[in-house]
Amino acid sequence: MNKSIRKLEDDVDYVLIDEQRLQARTEEIAHLMMADYKTEEDLLLICVLKGGYIFLADLSRALGRSHEIDFMAISSYGAGTKSSGAVQIIMDLKSPIIDRNVLIIEDIIDSGRTLQYMRASLLARGPKSVRICSLLSKPSRREVDVPVDYTGFEIPDEFVVGYGLDFAEEYRNLPYIAVLKPEVFAHLNEE
Ligand code: IMP
Ligand code: MG
Repeated sequence: MNKSIRKLEDDVDYVLIDEQRLQARTEEIAHLMMADYKTEEDLLLICVLKGGYIFLADLSRALGRSHEIDFMAISSYGAGTKSSGAVQIIMDLKSPIIDRNVLIIEDIIDSGRTLQYMRASLLARGPKSVRICSLLSKPSRREVDVPVDYTGFEIPDEFVVGYGLDFAEEYRNLPYIAVLKPEVFAHLNEE
């Protein structure tokens, strides 16, 4: 617990996506969104906590048009690196979304179960539209089909951390997307 930044960096095997690429892609996605939503149209970004918080902060600032933000916390993972399959709302939105243009901002789509559940839950509340933006996608891991409208990067089947993504609640504050050294996971196999 509470490792210093130096120690966090020592646990990194390699950087998969550096800060410059994250920033450039975020700006590209913001431009795609500005082309898709008319300037006078209502837009509500819904950040999936906790993993989406850094991407939301950068995307929101790159989006040169007015929008609101809200948060939803979903849990599908335990402390390990494999999904439990069960999805649960831990914290719900502050406001109703009836007749609103809703845009889900997620860190990563893996099996697709979290976003499938979230999308269904939001569609049931009568929004005008629901679109999905995921910074990362692991296409080889998909178990259910979910329409993702904006994808930042497709990545291989590796467990990644940084830029909001965690392993056992740590490493979220690394400024890049990285793969950890195998020994960091070693204690998991002893259980
Ligand atoms: P899914 O429901 O299997 O699509 O899993 C999505 C959720 O699992 C994401 O919102 C993440 O919180 C978590 N997750 C999946 N892959 C990774 C990873 O490589 N690193 C960190 N979290 C991950
Ligand atoms: Mg997440």
